[in-house]
Amino acid sequence: MWRKKESSTLLLHGIIIYSHMDKKRLKRFSDRDLLHVVLNAIGKIANERDVDKLLIIMADMGRDLVGAESCTLWMLDKERQELWSRVSHSLKEIRIPASHGIAGHVALSGEPEIINAPYEDPRFDGEVDIIMGYRTRNLLAIPIQNSEGQIIGVFQAVNKGTGESMFTQEDMDHFLIASTYIGKQLEAVLLQEEIETTQREIIFTLAETAELRSQETGYHVKRVAEYSWLLATLAGMPETEAKILKFASPLHDIGKIAIPDAILLKPGKLTNEEIEIMRTHTQLGYDMLKHSDRRILKAASIVAMEHHEHWDGKGYPRKTAGEDIHIYGRITAVADVFDALASHRVYKKAWPMEKILTLFREERGKQFDPTLVDLFLNNLDKVLEIREQYKDQLETPPE
Ligand code: C2E
Ligand code: SIN
Ligand code: SIN
Ligand code: FE
Ligand code: FE
Repeated sequence: MWRKKESSTLLLHGIIIYSHMDKKRLKRFSDRDLLHVVLNAIGKIANERDVDKLLIIMADMGRDLVGAESCTLWMLDKERQELWSRVSHSLKEIRIPASHGIAGHVALSGEPEIINAPYEDPRFDGEVDIIMGYRTRNLLAIPIQNSEGQIIGVFQAVNKGTGESMFTQEDMDHFLIASTYIGKQLEAVLLQEEIETTQREIIFTLAETAELRSQETGYHVKRVAEYSWLLATLAGMPETEAKILKFASPLHDIGKIAIPDAILLKPGKLTNEEIEIMRTHTQLGYDMLKHSDRRILKAASIVAMEHHEHWDGKGYPRKTAGEDIHIYGRITAVADVFDALASHRVYKKAWPMEKILTLFREERGKQFDPTLVDLFLNNLDKVLEIREQYKDQLETPPE
């Protein structure tokens, strides 16, 4: 039976065991260059922020550690009582009941299994083999635990080497090291993913709320995000910054939630006094967001403040000019005006595309950053693709 005590030593010390391995032990493993496999994976993992790529690196590490043909990372979906394969060398995403097969058995019992004659094991489910068109000769499956000891998945290696070879207790020990590491990384990564998704959802909901108040129905917020991202990418902005802007730019008009309905929803032209009040939405938005230390909200505060500044210094609220206007502000200005002109508003109808393009050509170097206008106009096909993709349902202008 499985030796619990020893395994917990391994669990606790994980990777360190390898780096402190004595020479004799190291020599025994050197044919598969285990140390190299582990260190290589750790190096890659440290530099990888994309969850799916991270999981592939982990699966690679597991596979190489035990010399298997393929490696599957089954995630336990507690709500649906299913295992689903998030990463696999041999499978596309599939779902199986959590009570199913060897993987399911390991998820429920928490006991690792080495199966060298799967088709003689009543728990084995040959259906996966049939679906995928391969034959499992042997497999190794161990539970993945989070830091509280709860099982969050199953790590499974299939088919040791070639021909007659079998998985051994030694393979199990190596695989366990990988699974311990993976458990920790996975937990951190899933939590981070959830936090980021939640943040984005909150930010997006906030932005939508502001736009809904001004009756800017449909996908305005989404389009501004996409146009901003496109422009940022075209301007050569690093990927992370471009992504931050993508999530920040929808908040440009968040300050409008503090503007009275009588002005915000006025069907006709605003008086000078009303325009003055309306213009405070930039400072109001900035004040709402400025205290945050979160990168997206910090970026959003800049965007709120600067999205109505003009390249020639004739915008508002501070009459900043040229490159003194943050690139986030300059980009969002182009994205916002393009979308405002192309959409119906309570106070105006959508403009035909030719008229919009004429305005941008005329305002190149006046209202807008000339470089950005060029990038926008030279990539109009991509712009219109976004417009088409996030088309408003409401095609007729409001009465
Ligand atoms: P918005 O509707 O989101 O418009 C954003 C920006 O798009 C405007 O900033 C302006 O730069 C551009 N834009 C929109 N419509 C036109 C247009 O017909 N012609 C031109 N040349 N540019 C246009 P702006 O002007 O600082 O306005 C800021 C916000 O103030 C607008 O956001 C809108 O909510 C409000 N607003 C502006 N003018 C009026 C108006 O006449 N009536 C009402 N009810 N609201 C207005
Ligand atoms: C099982 O866990 O029983 C099936 C796994 C597989 O064939 O990959
Ligand atoms: C910059 O920040 O100056 C480069 C992007 C641009 O303005 O086009
Ligand atoms: Fe605005
Ligand atoms: Fe807007």
